[in-house]
Amino acid sequence: MQIVKNIEELRSIIKWWRGEGHSIGLVPTMGYLHDGHKSLIEKAVSENDRVVVSDFVNPTQFGVNEDLSSYPRDIDRDAAICEAVGADVVFHPDPEEMYFPNHCTFVDMDRLTKGLCGKTRPTHFRGVCTVVSKLFNIVTPDRAYFGQKDAQQLAVIRRMVRDMNFGITIVGCPIVREADGLAMSSRNTYLNPKEREAALVLHKSLVLGEGMVHAGQKDAKKVKNAIRENIEKEPLAQVDYVEIVDVENLEPIDTIEGPFLAAVAVYIGKTRLIDNLKGE
Ligand code: PAF
Repeated sequence: MQIVKNIEELRSIIKWWRGEGHSIGLVPTMGYLHDGHKSLIEKAVSENDRVVVSDFVNPTQFGVNEDLSSYPRDIDRDAAICEAVGADVVFHPDPEEMYFPNHCTFVDMDRLTKGLCGKTRPTHFRGVCTVVSKLFNIVTPDRAYFGQKDAQQLAVIRRMVRDMNFGITIVGCPIVREADGLAMSSRNTYLNPKEREAALVLHKSLVLGEGMVHAGQKDAKKVKNAIRENIEKEPLAQVDYVEIVDVENLEPIDTIEGPFLAAVAVYIGKTRLIDNLKGE
């Protein structure tokens, strides 16, 4: 397995693979890999002849007061994980390699990016769409793999690929959880032991909401309120949002009649965590 830092070098590897007739899978990540990422890479390895894992903490998706400088990084550990799982290349560019100093082109999207995380992170999805477009242009994969944990990101990427005719198959992969239910996230490393315990309230509250729906509750407002109230019982938790939305267009729904997405963002201490649950 190779670690590649340079775009032109990666392009020549891709060209070589294409000449050999290989299919290519891309797993975009910001590194500090956990078992959730591992499951994406494993799926990519099982479905493609060659797999590139990008490992790049993308500055354009962080707001001014967000955790860009403290975001955890460990390329040696990441590379070992990628190699063990069977990836072929880890693409690990410096920010200067990805963005020219006078870079001024962005990929942005209306609607899907405005609600949920877009409310508190208004420039986040512009950064995600921009870097993912760049990665798609550099790697030209057949398939790209994203986790369902970032449900809004997955919906946004699917829409971008459709709207911009990227011709890439987007594969969404299930949330991977710790044994006690906490959704895996690189940001979980910020939590102290008390916060780690408190963070369980996200998943527990979503499961409570799901139980209400299974018991016949169709009023989305009632389910949302119950989820919110349960989160608010936890003293270390502060709700950013609790929403029940349509799975595809992410618009809030009033009546739960078919598939729905219950999504939450919650500050545990200073750490903002997200989680969601897809229901039928
Ligand atoms: O999900 C992530 O880790 C990032 O948003 C992504 C897709 C790698 C873009 O930087």
